[in-house]
Amino acid sequence: MSIKDIQLDPNRIPKHVAIIMDGNGRWAQKKGELRIFGHTNGVDSVREALTAAVEIGVQYLTLYAFSTENWNRPQQEIAALMDLLVQSIYNEIDELNNKGVKLETIGDVEILPKSCQNALVDAKKKTKDNQKITLILALSYSSRREISHAIQKMTKEVVDGNLKSEAINEDLISSYLSTANYPDPELLIRTSGENRVSNFLMWQLAYTELYFTKILWPDFKKKNFYKAIFDYQKRERRFGKTSQQILDNNV
Ligand code: IPE
Ligand code: IPE
Ligand code: MG
Repeated sequence: MSIKDIQLDPNRIPKHVAIIMDGNGRWAQKKGELRIFGHTNGVDSVREALTAAVEIGVQYLTLYAFSTENWNRPQQEIAALMDLLVQSIYNEIDELNNKGVKLETIGDVEILPKSCQNALVDAKKKTKDNQKITLILALSYSSRREISHAIQKMTKEVVDGNLKSEAINEDLISSYLSTANYPDPELLIRTSGENRVSNFLMWQLAYTELYFTKILWPDFKKKNFYKAIFDYQKRERRFGKTSQQILDNNV
């Protein structure tokens, strides 16, 4: 299927797409290369997904780039990933500005190496006024950690007398998460054939459509992104209602 064959409905473009970019290591190993070769090639796929998202008017793209659990990988791979992050930010900054991309992050960015933090601070500053799309990199991110932090903050405010426990509801919890300024994703894509969430946006994904593909991340191109959107557009989002209710509301 080529991009031309994919007819997307411009009225049903998801506002927010999240991606678990998985399979870099296996992609490299299949080619007899080191795992980092897969990560390096994965950067091209990031560019493709971002370009595709901008082209169809997605407003938020969240990419799972490094999980809290990924700190348990071999030191050498972690160091190579961090170097790649710094290099990619410096290489892509002009392109991000050309495309109108605002860069933001979620996760414990303050525990990344200083060089990464500096590159991120710089890129965020240089792209802060861009309005076409917000690219959110999840770095040293874990959903359970994020929720634990939110509970800690709320508890402290209750103890200090600044928050009533009865005021804690779904909206308030959402507002204490690092994603407070973003709508929940309508679509989650995970590559590489793994059918799991791996501690990613667990609160935010409550009603997200899940799209799993066997394609390894470095092979994931613009047309694959469009295919995922096309698949999403065929789905009926019922939010607990019946199919008939959804049909009645749409006429
Ligand atoms: C995803 O690819 C990138 C990161 C988690 C940083 P992997 O490195 O997990 O690749 P596989 O799953 O081992 O093939
Ligand atoms: C999830 O991929 C994290 C990122 C893509 C950054 P992993 O490869 O780390 O996930 P698991 O360990 O297979 O669940
Ligand atoms: Mg993996």
